[in-house]
Amino acid sequence: MRKKNRVMLLQRTEPWAVTAARIADIHDETPGVKTYQLELSDADDRSTYEARAGQFNMLYLPGVGESAISLSHLTQPGEPIVHTVRAVGNVTQTLARLSVGDSLGVRGPFGSYWPIDSVRGKDLILVAGGIGLAPLRPVIDFIRSNRGVFGRVCLLMGARTPADLLYQDEYQAWRSDDIDVQTTVDRAQSDWQGHVGVVTLLVNRVGIVRSDRTMLFCCGPEVMMTYAIRAVRERGIPRTSLWLSLERNMNCAMGHCGHCQLGPHFVCKDGPVLRYDQVNRLMRVDSL
Ligand SMILES: Cc1cc2nc3c(=O)[nH]c(=O)nc-3n(C[C@H](O)[C@H](O)[C@H](O)COP(=O)(O)OP(=O)(O)OC[C@H]3O[C@@H](n4cnc5c(N)ncnc54)[C@H](O)[C@@H]3O)c2cc1C
Ligand code: FES
Repeated sequence: MRKKNRVMLLQRTEPWAVTAARIADIHDETPGVKTYQLELSDADDRSTYEARAGQFNMLYLPGVGESAISLSHLTQPGEPIVHTVRAVGNVTQTLARLSVGDSLGVRGPFGSYWPIDSVRGKDLILVAGGIGLAPLRPVIDFIRSNRGVFGRVCLLMGARTPADLLYQDEYQAWRSDDIDVQTTVDRAQSDWQGHVGVVTLLVNRVGIVRSDRTMLFCCGPEVMMTYAIRAVRERGIPRTSLWLSLERNMNCAMGHCGHCQLGPHFVCKDGPVLRYDQVNRLMRVDSL
């Protein structure tokens, strides 16, 4: 109990505090994408750090900067923190050059989380584009550990090419836990046996039998999320059952600087996971 209180203090009153972490493992996922296992250096922090599915950390590289990166596995106290990162800019490309044993800073966890508890007894459609599967994988972890309390679960995953399909060595295990995994790519060589086309085409292949008891969790490029929502709305799923993880430029990650503002929302604090009817009119507003 004492330790728990200590962590709450660390996160609520010292959200600027950066905790040192050591890279314990690096796994190459797809071209330009790696998964990192991080071990917090302080034993107390390590044994108390906990995050919920959909939350993110700020990863800090001294002299380079900080980036918002989602937790890509459910994190339990004492276990490594897992992040999957696509190398696109200053921080993430520098991170990609680090090795096992190197150090970096971690602030977090921050933000809202997927409302997994409200899916109990219902069907769930997960729609992911590219790296957007990373913040949804903790949801899959949770479902696999509690499979009996969820109805039908379907993952629709889109990527640019077959080689870009994230976590593909895990799909078989997910399918064996009764998760219907369907993939599509934008382009492929002739030896690709799967679907070619936008991920929203897969929505039409999912038999939505209980639209009033089906929820959607979606993460990817905003244009993809817009079309995915349109497709499920046409199948009768209410707007209040649709949840998105949004991405905006982040700086403070705690609702002070305004970098991530989206209408009345701060995506770092009120999001990144937001209900569609809270943001549908704002989704094309650019960040500062
Ligand atoms: C809540 C949240 C969760 C996130 N989770 C993840 C995650 O799990 N994994 C992940 O990989 N990302 C995630 N992101 C995205 C990540 O935070 C951004 O990609 C971040 O900007 C990367 O930081 P950076 O310093 O490497 O890139 P920056 O230098 O800030 O670059 C930002 C953008 O500019 C573009 N850019 C950078 N340099 C150049 C250049 N020289 N020429 C042209 N374009 C350029 C890049 O394409 C990139 O899109 C998340 C973002 C948010 C808000
Ligand atoms: S990142 Fe500063 S307000 Fe959200």
